[in-house]
Amino acid sequence: MAGLVSPSGLSNDLTLLDKIDSESVVDILDKRFQTGSPYTYIGEVVVSINPYRQLNIYGNDVINEYRAREMWEKQPHIFALAESVSPNNQGKNACVIITGESGSGKTEASKIVMKYLAAVSSQDDKAEIERVRDILLRTNVILESFGNARTGRNDNSSRFGKYMDISFDFKGTPNGGNIHSYLLEKSRVVQRSAGERNFHSFYQLLAGANDQLLTSLSLKRSISGYRYTKGDDTQAMKVGSGPGTDDRKLFKDVEMAMKNVGFQDHEIKSIWRLMSAILHLGNVNFHDDGDSAAIREGNESDLARVAKLLDVDVEAVKDALTSRTVSAGGDIISAKHSAEKAEHGRDGFAKAIYERLFSFIVGKINSKIQVEKRHTDCVIGVLDIYGFEVLGINSFEQLCINYANEMLQQLFIQLVLKQQQEEYIRENISWVDVKYHNNQPICDLVEGRRGMLALLEDAAGGGLGKATDDGLLETLDSQFKANKFYTSRRNEPQDKTLEHGHQFRIRHYAGDVTYSINGFIDKSKDLVFQDFKRLLFGSKQPAISSMWKDGAQAKSIVTKRPPAAGTLFKQSMQELIKNLSSKEPFYIRCIKPNEIKSPQRFDTNRVAHQVAYLGLVENIRVRKAGFAVRQPYDRFLQRYKLICKETWPNHRLGSDKKAVEVLCKSMKIKKDEDVAYGNTKLFIRSAKTLNLLEARRDVKIIDVIIFLQKHWRRTLAQIRFKKMRALMTIIEYYRKYKLRKYISDLEKKFRNVRQMPDKGKSITWGAPPKSILSTVDYFKLVFRRWCAHFVISRLPKEEHEGVKMRAAILDAYVGSGRQGWQGGEWKTDYIKTNPEFNMAVSTLRTKEKEGLGKLLFAAEGIKLSSKAKGTPRALLITDKFVLKMDSTKKYKVMDKKPVSETIKSVSVFNEPSSKSVVLHCEGRNDLVMAFSTGNPVELTAILRYKLNVEKINVQSRIPITVEKKSSSLTREASIDQSASFQKRGNDVSVLD
Ligand SMILES: Nc1ncnc2c1ncn2[C@@H]1O[C@H](COP(=O)(O)OP(=O)(O)OP(=O)(O)O)[C@@H](O)[C@H]1O
Ligand SMILES: [Mg+2]
Repeated sequence: MAGLVSPSGLSNDLTLLDKIDSESVVDILDKRFQTGSPYTYIGEVVVSINPYRQLNIYGNDVINEYRAREMWEKQPHIFALAESVSPNNQGKNACVIITGESGSGKTEASKIVMKYLAAVSSQDDKAEIERVRDILLRTNVILESFGNARTGRNDNSSRFGKYMDISFDFKGTPNGGNIHSYLLEKSRVVQRSAGERNFHSFYQLLAGANDQLLTSLSLKRSISGYRYTKGDDTQAMKVGSGPGTDDRKLFKDVEMAMKNVGFQDHEIKSIWRLMSAILHLGNVNFHDDGDSAAIREGNESDLARVAKLLDVDVEAVKDALTSRTVSAGGDIISAKHSAEKAEHGRDGFAKAIYERLFSFIVGKINSKIQVEKRHTDCVIGVLDIYGFEVLGINSFEQLCINYANEMLQQLFIQLVLKQQQEEYIRENISWVDVKYHNNQPICDLVEGRRGMLALLEDAAGGGLGKATDDGLLETLDSQFKANKFYTSRRNEPQDKTLEHGHQFRIRHYAGDVTYSINGFIDKSKDLVFQDFKRLLFGSKQPAISSMWKDGAQAKSIVTKRPPAAGTLFKQSMQELIKNLSSKEPFYIRCIKPNEIKSPQRFDTNRVAHQVAYLGLVENIRVRKAGFAVRQPYDRFLQRYKLICKETWPNHRLGSDKKAVEVLCKSMKIKKDEDVAYGNTKLFIRSAKTLNLLEARRDVKIIDVIIFLQKHWRRTLAQIRFKKMRALMTIIEYYRKYKLRKYISDLEKKFRNVRQMPDKGKSITWGAPPKSILSTVDYFKLVFRRWCAHFVISRLPKEEHEGVKMRAAILDAYVGSGRQGWQGGEWKTDYIKTNPEFNMAVSTLRTKEKEGLGKLLFAAEGIKLSSKAKGTPRALLITDKFVLKMDSTKKYKVMDKKPVSETIKSVSVFNEPSSKSVVLHCEGRNDLVMAFSTGNPVELTAILRYKLNVEKINVQSRIPITVEKKSSSLTREASIDQSASFQKRGNDVSVLD
């Protein structure tokens, strides 16, 4: 249940608590503090408890985990809030308002937000984008150096309010920004409470500047040598000491950051000059010389250093410090100060220098990151402003700070309520009215038309010396006599906790605060004598002069009194509130667990107090008004659709709303009782329902994993299949290519074959692709035929038949060992020179009724008769008959049979010189003849070619049947060329 509880089982959203009261909230915060998981939600508000120890939850790996995730999907984190704010998610102007008391972790939280925004915005690596991103992140180092200080409550306390706008282009990349600073606590330059330090920048300069720089600034490396840095001798005051404050290193970091941001060398030098001028100025003391102030003896050198560093005339500095130019009735006169007033003026001067220096630095940073409006798609503001403050003595600054918090709290309640109410109306859910603390009367008390700040302005306007703090208190007392948020001793004499004459109390939303009126008028007037302004405008250092442009006026011009500091602060606050109201607000509420910066100690009372004044319980109630959780239907389905058949993996129910209804019904979640269906969102009343859904989801997720595995495997198989198919296509194309290439190569090789002397017999065919092996064999056959045709066509016509016959029996003799079998002249009739034979034949022709037929072969020799005797015989074969003739009896016909029925196959010996032949006859003796004339091979050819006797055997032992007895005929070479038969056991041998 990642979204609802922490690994240690703590509720991630306080709205899911069953019991909503301060104790339960404090208890959860305590446990979160102890377990090092400092964040909790109230809806979209992040509540952060300062862990006071380094946690390993801010790395880039964690950033990646929160990318493109919904807030409730992961454990609560500022990163989740930053993801919701980021332009990639929102696309709207938004602001992150960080509040909490000093040391609660606001500044750290703002840095975490910025880190996330810089990391997840578009990963463009263009130099300009990198530059802006770098400046945005580095500004913190500079601003913390000049605007932060070690206080009793925080070693790195921001002594100014900061609002930073980061602008993003349409791609969601930060392309610029703007910083607005509020109410720098400049009084810190000249005085601090015990154990506290001046701004870090002074100590960093004294500790970190190298000797050369220190000498050029006439500084000693000693904080106790200067009134403005000298403090008590506590460890905290030592240069470069204290946790997390390595002044020496930080000086280098600040210098580097200023260079990177784009400060020019002369500007950085001027900054150091002003800083050291302030230090030296603090060491200038006065004494009364008659009725006017004079520089105390021994302090002239300090004065001279101030003049040198500010690059102004030393006498002019002296005059500005000890007197004041007054324009009275057109005359310009110099009014001398008393020593006390001169010291006051000196401190005022030092504060003013520092304040303007700070504004200069902020302005400089802004000039480097400003961006034209047309390049800005959306703006995200981050507000890190001082929290509600209650000190031992509360003065004008605390009033301003607490008033600012009053305004922000009012804004918070308004926005949260407003947002919620608007959402209910939009979603068509009935709205439940919620009571909440209204800060408006207190805001009015301070900023109203006849409010405190207006009265202060009036008092300040009363001119120097005329209005007094006492008088102001009297005015306040009478003005707010009936105001229940204001009391004083005069108004409530019985309240002994208030001192007479200088204290008043305001009942802030965060608690009662007693203020002391002493110094209010002075602080409000915030007077810097015109003489100082003129003096520094005249500085030869351009950077210094540029900070004092209002010193340009001539002495004779009576300057109009600038608005009182309180009025200016009110205006800037009202502007800020207006700005924030125009943006989608997100809140981080920071809580400080203890006063001693301990990572273990959880001070329940302190936290309860903060929970109360941050209005967290109220916040939870507002958020829970009616329904604790709401989720857009599509996101709800995304998370839970797997638990219902009808919605998994995709529903076909027409709309997401319908699908959610079906899903809830399947879980027996009751409409109106447990949930309400808004137009685009589901409203869930309690954690119970969510827990039910989550538990079911946990069970079902296993099925999904199997399902995903199955799909993934299928996908892998599909990928493999596609690859195979591609491979096959490639192979197929390659084969075709090989084929075409083989054929086209052949075609090229044989193109001029007619002209070749050997008609292409020497051409190598190469190995053909397997698929056309038989085709190529056929080509070869065709080619051979074509070659044969050439050979044949050159022969006389009458030889054609002989060639054809020789070809016809080719296969019978190939490989038989009977070399030269084709050779020699084939005569057909080997007896034709014998007149007796010719006579016998012509007699036969005339005698035969059906005709003798065409003579195909005639030869004579001996025929094997019974008892292995050789009887002289002639063999005559025509296309009709086979005739055996007795060559000793004038070729008398001994036997005559029709050709077609007689000879079934024929055998010859595989020895080339043998002249024997065996005609195997159906149902009768085989005719075995050893020719004296006649070629047995020719006879076999004639038998196959002309008489269709297919079977021709060429062998060394021929099976024969003579006189119905089967035996074998072998062959032996005859010694005297004459043929004869010999009996060899059961077999017969022919000698020929
Ligand atoms: N998330 C955090 N992780 C670790 N330490 C933290 C964290 N937040 C704050 N701290 C510790 O608390 C100190 C005070 O925090 P920070 O300066 O942010 O407070 P602040 O609210 O800005 O106070 P101030 O109002 O005085 O400026 C830090 O210096 C740091 O030591
Ligand atoms: Mg701070």
